Amino acid sequence: METVLYFFSGTGNTLALAKYVQEKTAATMLPIAAMRDADAVAVQSEAIGIVTPVYYGDLPNIVKDFLRKLRNIEERYIFLVVNYGGGTGTSVATAKKLVRENGGRVSAVYSIHMPQNSFAKSAETPTGLYAAAERVLSDIRQTVLQQKEGTFSTNRYADALQGILYAILKPMYRKHLLRLSSLDADASIEAAIAAADRTFSVNESCTGCGICARVCPVDNIDLASGRPGWLHHCENCLACYTWCPEKAIRGPLVEENYYYRHPGVRLQDLAGQKMGSIP
Ligand SMILES: Cc1cc2nc3c(=O)[nH]c(=O)nc-3n(C[C@H](O)[C@H](O)[C@H](O)COP(=O)(O)O)c2cc1C
Ligand code: SF4
Ligand code: SF4
Repeated sequence: METVLYFFSGTGNTLALAKYVQEKTAATMLPIAAMRDADAVAVQSEAIGIVTPVYYGDLPNIVKDFLRKLRNIEERYIFLVVNYGGGTGTSVATAKKLVRENGGRVSAVYSIHMPQNSFAKSAETPTGLYAAAERVLSDIRQTVLQQKEGTFSTNRYADALQGILYAILKPMYRKHLLRLSSLDADASIEAAIAAADRTFSVNESCTGCGICARVCPVDNIDLASGRPGWLHHCENCLACYTWCPEKAIRGPLVEENYYYRHPGVRLQDLAGQKMGSIP
C-alpha cells in the first residue's frame, strides 16, 4: 500500500522513529518543515502516517498548521505516531480533531515514550526506551496493511491519565510561556511559544559558525550580525541549543547543561528537513 510518512523533529527522536516505521512499511518520508509555507497539502497516497513529538502537552505549532492544511484525506488510512518524554497530553485529541475538520479520520495511534529532550533528564535509560519503542512499533507493517484500528502504546496506564493531568498542566504551561515571551495575558499559547525564543541568549563561546541557523527547521535564526538573532517564529524544538558545537546557547526553555539528542541521527539529517531532503 502506498504510504507517506510526514514527520517533524528537533533533536532526532521523532526522526529515528519515522525511519524505523519507514523501514517496516516501505513508506516515503516527507518532512513537515519543508511544507511550512504551502497553502495546502493534497494527499495522493492510500495511507498516511503523522510522526510527531509532544510539546507543552500538545502538538508542536508546525504540526498543527500542517494538519490544518491537509486536503483530499477523506478516503485515506491515517495513523499517528506521537512520542513524548512524560506523556501524550492532549496531542492525540488535537490531531484527531484537526484531521476530522478536514474530512479525515485517524484510525490508529502509536503512543511512544522516548527520552525527554528538554525540561529534565528522563529517569529511564534511553536504550531501554528505544527498545520499548521498537517493540511496540514492530507490527506496524501489519497495522497499515490491514488498516487496523486502535491504540498501541508503550505505557497504557500513563496514557489513561493524560486528560486529567494536562487539564492541570496546560494553564501552567501557558502562564509560563506568556511570561517568557513577554506577551499580553490574552495571547494564545501558540503565539507565546513562537515568541519564547526571546529568552535565548548566546555567550562568548559563540564562533559564528552558523550551525544553529542551518539546523533550525523553520529558519528562525538570523546570523547577519555574526551571532545568532532569533526571529520570533520559533517552534522551541531545541535543535539550535542542542547542536551548537560550543554549547553557547542559553535559556530557560531547557534544564541548564542538559543536552540530549538521539545518537542515531546526524546533524545533516535534521538540517535537511526544511529543504525536503530525506535522510
Ligand atoms: C518545547 C518542548 C516541550 C515539550 N513538552 C513536552 C510535554 O509537554 N510532555 C512530554 O511528555 N514531553 C514534552 N517534550 C519532550 C519531547 O516530546 C520528547 O523528548 C520528544 O521525543 C522530542 O522529539 P524530537 O527529538 O524529535 O524533537 C517537550 C519537548 C520540547 C522541546
Ligand atoms: S551554532 Fe553555536 S557557535 Fe555556531 S553560530 Fe550558533 S551559537 Fe554560535
Ligand atoms: S530557533 Fe532553535 S528552538 Fe527555535 S525553531 Fe529554530 S532551532 Fe528550534
